[in-house]
Amino acid sequence: MKIIKAKDYEDMSRKAANIISAQVILKPDCVLGLATGSTPIGAYKQLAAWYKKGDVDFAEVSTYNLDEYRGLSHDDPQSYHYFMRENFFDHINIDLNNTHVPDGSNPDAAAACSEYDKIVAAAGYPDLQLLGIGNNGHIGFNEPDDHFSKGTHCVDLTESTIQANSRLFDSIDDVPRQAYTMGTQTIMYARMILVVANGEAKAQAVHDMCYGPVTPKCPASILQLHTNCVVVADEAALSLCE
Ligand code: F6R
Repeated sequence: MKIIKAKDYEDMSRKAANIISAQVILKPDCVLGLATGSTPIGAYKQLAAWYKKGDVDFAEVSTYNLDEYRGLSHDDPQSYHYFMRENFFDHINIDLNNTHVPDGSNPDAAAACSEYDKIVAAAGYPDLQLLGIGNNGHIGFNEPDDHFSKGTHCVDLTESTIQANSRLFDSIDDVPRQAYTMGTQTIMYARMILVVANGEAKAQAVHDMCYGPVTPKCPASILQLHTNCVVVADEAALSLCE
């Protein structure tokens, strides 16, 4: 694991965007695994700004997002489909047909998940997988558990995740209780993993990811076993790592 310390959120975002843009420049038709949440928004903004300047071109890129709430339609403003368009895809020249997010609108969980596994496998898995990390060490929606997950599956969100995500909903009762998420094994198939983290609330999870035992109680800890994992985190998120 390589740990890169950033000064603050802006610096973290620029460093992460630099790594993603290098990937796209080196391999214009690369496969990117993408994440939602607050953490990557600054990196998406920076990439969109570089696209507008003509520095990076997404015309041949394809993307696979980690997860989606179960039960939300693609145009629901709380859905991750919507989030990705609003925060990234609508600001770059990506072909929307080449962007993929698990189909939360399909109530048949087994079908939705196996369909997603098939398309991610057919794409050859991401060249670069961008990840945020939950306060409890989750990656994607792979919550602390007694085993690591494999392929895409339907999960019950934990109270701490529902609580953390409720900031984006009118009320906590509106937060969906289930999601479809790429499994941990699938995440580990990516050829490079880039984790972004900022803020004090992430400090324990970042410490456990980097230095704790490899355990499904902290799903991100498995990234210690990946051969090409880079963590870009700000000083607050790294405050327990000194
Ligand atoms: C989002 C995702 C989640 C988030 C994590 C951190 O697609 O997979 O694992 O990365 O919950 O969220 P933020 O960045 O909002 O703190």
